[in-house]
Amino acid sequence: MAHPPERRLPVAVLVSGSGSNLQAIIDAADAPSYGAEIVAVISDRPGVRALERAATAGIPSEVVAWKDFDNRAAFSAAICDAADAYGADALILAGFMRILAPNAIARFPNRILNTHPALLPAFPGAHAVPEAIAHGVKLTGVTIHFVDEEVDHGPIIRQVAVAIESGDTEATLQARIQAEEHRVYPEVIDAFARGRLEVLGRAVTWKEPV
Ligand code: GAR
Repeated sequence: MAHPPERRLPVAVLVSGSGSNLQAIIDAADAPSYGAEIVAVISDRPGVRALERAATAGIPSEVVAWKDFDNRAAFSAAICDAADAYGADALILAGFMRILAPNAIARFPNRILNTHPALLPAFPGAHAVPEAIAHGVKLTGVTIHFVDEEVDHGPIIRQVAVAIESGDTEATLQARIQAEEHRVYPEVIDAFARGRLEVLGRAVTWKEPV
């Protein structure tokens, strides 16, 4: 069992939909030994399930609606301003289906994490699960990575393979991929929050527990 950190890293979790990954992080953060504290949940859409999950957990939330902004840079600046207002030191993308502009990457350099439902660089974008089935690959999975200026491209922190079985539908495959995300993403966030991840160019090294 890991020892409690001296200070929990304050993070904002960015969501767009169901928030099952948010829930996994909320549950992990219940343990006193967890490295991160969710200080805010920020959604680009009102009325999504993830916002209900935040409310149930007593975590403040905010909607920064994509449609209220003229361009991606203004939207991204508003997301960062909202996260800053809650004192977040990092952004955790958990099913957040918008692309952040370079101004956000500059404000949180190597401090934005994302989970993607494929083994990057295969199947970037918003339809990774059906695209993997349509392509006939035998293995797909989960990639957790730092976010950089390109879509689904930043330094890879951890990958887990998931086999595609004959008869898999988008729903059955997505369920197995998400089960892996829910297990691994909270672990990665804990390691990041404890300063265990070292980034050199594209290479991410895991340091021993501190
Ligand atoms: C997750 O499986 C995540 O990997 C995927 O959206 C799902 C959101 O589920 N993200 C992407 O496809 C990003 N390109 P959740 O809202 O239940 O966590």
